[in-house]
Amino acid sequence: MMLTLPGVLGREQLAAARRFIAQGTFVDGRLTAGAAAQRVKRNQEIDRRPTWIAELDGLVMSNLVRHPAYRAAALPLAVATPHYARYTAGMAYGTHLDDPIMSADGAPYRSDIAITLFLSEPHEYEGGELVIDTAYGTQTVKLTAGNGVMYPASRLHRVNAVVSGERLVAVTWVQSMVRDPGQRELLYDLYLARETLLERAPDAPETIRVNQAYINLVRRWSEL
Ligand code: NI
Repeated sequence: MMLTLPGVLGREQLAAARRFIAQGTFVDGRLTAGAAAQRVKRNQEIDRRPTWIAELDGLVMSNLVRHPAYRAAALPLAVATPHYARYTAGMAYGTHLDDPIMSADGAPYRSDIAITLFLSEPHEYEGGELVIDTAYGTQTVKLTAGNGVMYPASRLHRVNAVVSGERLVAVTWVQSMVRDPGQRELLYDLYLARETLLERAPDAPETIRVNQAYINLVRRWSEL
């Protein structure tokens, strides 16, 4: 399931994130790619050594992890420290798969879900679309700054070459409590129905049933 996450960063948070990034120095993005992806990766990533990077991470991640659609659709167990990537004219990331097992501070985790948070406005760069090979065909994504997209990391994807301007994104990965993307999608459908029922008729027997089914399916399908 591919899902747009609207308004992960508000206007002021986005401006703050971009002020941080403007202070950064960028290094070759191939340093963080697996062997196969290195061959097609042509971008730059922020040097994570300055101490203010922790503040930037905090700003971005605290907003992501509170986002209701993210929480319900990802059912996150662990989320990676983001990469801040920059693509200027001529840069692209050819078709690839992300590494299945990543590590954060030495602790391994499985990349079930990939998330791209757009930090540049679409009019600030030409090209640079994220293209995802989904079960329903190819999806092309280029969102307003502050919005994100999440998709199963098991799908091939690429970033089209930037023709002009500059594309800034934050990219991260999530290990879900529910490993199977089909199960996550079913749970998200049921979650949406449950939310509507809880709002409209919190005490109705059908609400109680759907709520019970949702909670017990999460319990049945989660691995911790
Ligand atoms: Ni990727």
